[in-house]
This record gives sequence, C-alpha cells and structure tokens, in this order.
Amino acid sequence: MDYIKRLSEITDKNQLALIHTFGCQQNENDSEKIAGVLHEIGYGFTDDANKASLIIFNTCAIRENAEKKVYGMLGALKPLKEMRPNLIIALCGCMANEEKNIKKIKSTFKQVDIVFGTNSIQELPRFIYEYLSGSNRVFCTTEDELIHEDIPYFRKDSVKAGVPIMYGCNNFCTYCIVPYVRGRERSRAEGDVVEDVKKLIADGCREVMLLGQNVNSYNGGGDAFANLLQKVADTGIDRIRFMTSHPKDISDSVIRVMAENKNICKSLHLPLQAGSDAVLKSMNRKYTSEWFLQKVDKIRDKMPDIALTTDIIVGFPSETNDDFEKTLDMLRKVRFDMIYSFIFSPRSGTPAAKMPFVLSDDEIKANFERLLEVQNEISLEKNKALTGKTELVLVEGESKTNPHFMTGRTEGNKIVNFPAPHSLKGEIVPVKIVKVGTFSLEGELI
Ligand code: 5AD
Ligand code: SF4
Repeated sequence: MDYIKRLSEITDKNQLALIHTFGCQQNENDSEKIAGVLHEIGYGFTDDANKASLIIFNTCAIRENAEKKVYGMLGALKPLKEMRPNLIIALCGCMANEEKNIKKIKSTFKQVDIVFGTNSIQELPRFIYEYLSGSNRVFCTTEDELIHEDIPYFRKDSVKAGVPIMYGCNNFCTYCIVPYVRGRERSRAEGDVVEDVKKLIADGCREVMLLGQNVNSYNGGGDAFANLLQKVADTGIDRIRFMTSHPKDISDSVIRVMAENKNICKSLHLPLQAGSDAVLKSMNRKYTSEWFLQKVDKIRDKMPDIALTTDIIVGFPSETNDDFEKTLDMLRKVRFDMIYSFIFSPRSGTPAAKMPFVLSDDEIKANFERLLEVQNEISLEKNKALTGKTELVLVEGESKTNPHFMTGRTEGNKIVNFPAPHSLKGEIVPVKIVKVGTFSLEGELI
C-alpha cells in the first residue's frame, strides 16, 4: 500500500518531526533510519517540541535510569498534547519491546499515540496513517526478526557514520536486557555492508563505525568478521572502527586484520564488566580475568600503541568487596585509556534481577566512586604521555566550549580541541598535543 500518497492526502504540508534518541549507537543509527522514513513521507525536522507535529522517543532499556528519564519526559509532554490534540507522540526502541512498558503506557501514559519496536521502523508510515485515519492508539508489539534492507537514512553527520553489520544478541549475560528486546543475532550480507560503506565514501564520509552487539559473532563467528573487516578496509575509507567486541570471541584473525590495515583505527572497546572470576561466572561472561589479560597482551603485542576502552559494572548482586578489589586490580594491570562504568541495575526478566545482593547501596556507591578515582588517575597518566606528540585528528566540527576551536578525535578516539578554521571540518589533520585533561586533549594544528 502506498502510504506516502495516502498520508499526503490527509496531512498538512511542511510538517516537522522531533526525534529524541536515548541510549547507544545502535539507537542513534535507528533514529537516522526513522528520520529517513519520515523524510520520505515529507517531514522536516526540528528540536523544538512546540513546532513539532510529531514527537518520537527512541528509547533505551539497558538501565532503570534510562527508562525513568523517558517516563519523566513523556509526563512533561502531557500538557503539550492537551493543548495541541493533533500532536502525535510516538515511542519506539528497546522499551517498546518489553511487556511491562507496554502495559504502563496503555494504562498511564495515554498521551502516547503510537508504540513500535526496534524492528518495525519501515512500518512507521503505516502506523501514522492508521492513527490519523482511525484516531485509535496504535500498538505494534509483535514483530519479525528479519533484516529490513533499503530503509532510507537521513544522517546527522556527514563526516562519521554508523553502519550496522548485525542485530540482536545470543549471549544472555545474566544482567542484560538486550537479548530480550532485540532478539537473536542476525547478520547483514557482506555485500550490503560494503555497498553502504562505498556509498558513504561517495558522499564524503571519512569514518565508519561497524555496529553490532557482538561484532565478533558476525555471520556465526569464526573468521567471518575478520573477512568483513578486510573487505571494508579495502574500500579505502579513511577510518574504520567497530563495536562492540565480546572479549570471549575476538579472534586472532581480527587482531591480525586490525594490525595489517592502516585505515582500521588502533582503538578497541573490549568490555570486561568485572575483575573477579566468580562474578564473571555469575554474569555468564565465559572468560576469566587471566584469559582477558592474555588477550590484551596478544593485542598489544601486535599493536603496542592501541587505545583500549572497556565497560565495568559495579555492584553486581553477588559482588563482594573482595571481588570489587579484583576489578580495581584489573584496571591497574590493563591500564585502559578510558572506561564506561555503571552501577548494576536489575532488569526484570533477566536472571540477575532475581539474585540477592551481597553489598548495600552505600557500599556499592562508595565502590563506584573508588573505581572512578582509580581510573581517572590512569586516564590522565595515559593522556599525559601524549603531550608533545603529533596525532592525526579527524575534524568533526566546532568545539562546544569555544567558537574559535574545532573538535575532533585521534585514531585512539580521544577528543582533541584546537584553534582552527571551520573550513577544516571533515579533514584529517596533524595536531600537536599541548595540554591534557582526564577526558580530553588540547592541541595546536601543525
Ligand atoms: N546494569 C548496569 N549496567 C548494564 N549494562 C548492561 N546491562 C546492565 C545492567 N543491567 C552495561 C554493560 C554493557 C553496557 C552497554 O551497559 O557494561 O557492556
Ligand atoms: Fe548484553 Fe552480553 Fe549481549 Fe552485550 S553481549 S548485549 S552485555 S547480553
């Protein structure tokens, strides 16, 4: 059914949509598809809720905080909906794939008109049409696990782009909601990924981030991801990154292909989650701290200057203070460039949500603070070692804090601010690092 034509018959011209994205890069990527679909049916875009005739929240379910924020913002939209009953409010993304949220939205958040899951973006014109022509709320809560190619993109950034290579996750780490809301792993065809990258190059894009919950199990694992990585490198794109890499699955062939190709950034995100083997076991991570250290040695042996980042969860239910010390030990041993740290958040339906806690909230918070202290010192030391060195920086745009400065990222994915003309946006330029902080660097253009 041609919903573009049908919608144009029942909607005004020049309508604006506001898309608010919560969560990870996969969600950011999905939002660019949502924007693509909306653009195709005639919508423009705005950041101003008062000007929008359609507001979409693309949501995240990974931690309770993320969900609370969404409900808070939905509450704030209620008066706007009362004032402007024609405003359409839609909610999609990971929260829309959880029964408990659907129930809550149906009963309590009646200002929400349309709800759809992560794999139904291509159906959005139909949902809008059904809502506008019937005035009933539209809930699309069952969906397939197919890969829908040919969804148009409306990309935010011309310099860097995310390219999904697979969807879903089969790992079932005991704390994680992702396998329940995004379904089982399925991989895009190699040719489709490579074609996307070639099109992005033609549009002037300089960097791609290959996306998947666990890119190492692309096409069932083995050497498939290394082969894909090589093919993407062969396109000649300036920079390639990928995430996320489950440590248990990163293969020697991926490490080799990374080391052999100049355009694959020497930067790797390898989520450790915890340093204690007992905790790793109850998280169902399938590696030990010793095994992780050996992997890191292997990676650094081939790429000595690689920047390593990780995710850490503090306060997993079975974690004792002794276990937590082991996480700190791992930070000191590995010396990651940066970490993303989270306090454990029970997600209903996951095995960890039923486990009893060993530590109190206060103890967990104190441990979290210590984790940051230990890591911040390491991050600063690692950044200090870059002082005086020249780094190649991909210029992303104007710095947020100073209009005379531009901002960009090193190959190791570190943020650098430096005085430069706006015309350099999209260029890869040599920058000498002159000042460093814990989270960013300052430099001078050479
Ligand atoms: N609580 C806290 N952190 C979580 N993560 C995933 N699930 C949870 C949870 N229930 C973290 C993990 C993962 C990152 C994306 O989010 O560290 O790697
Ligand atoms: Fe969640 Fe584990 Fe899958 Fe990552 S690998 S998405 S942490 S279940």
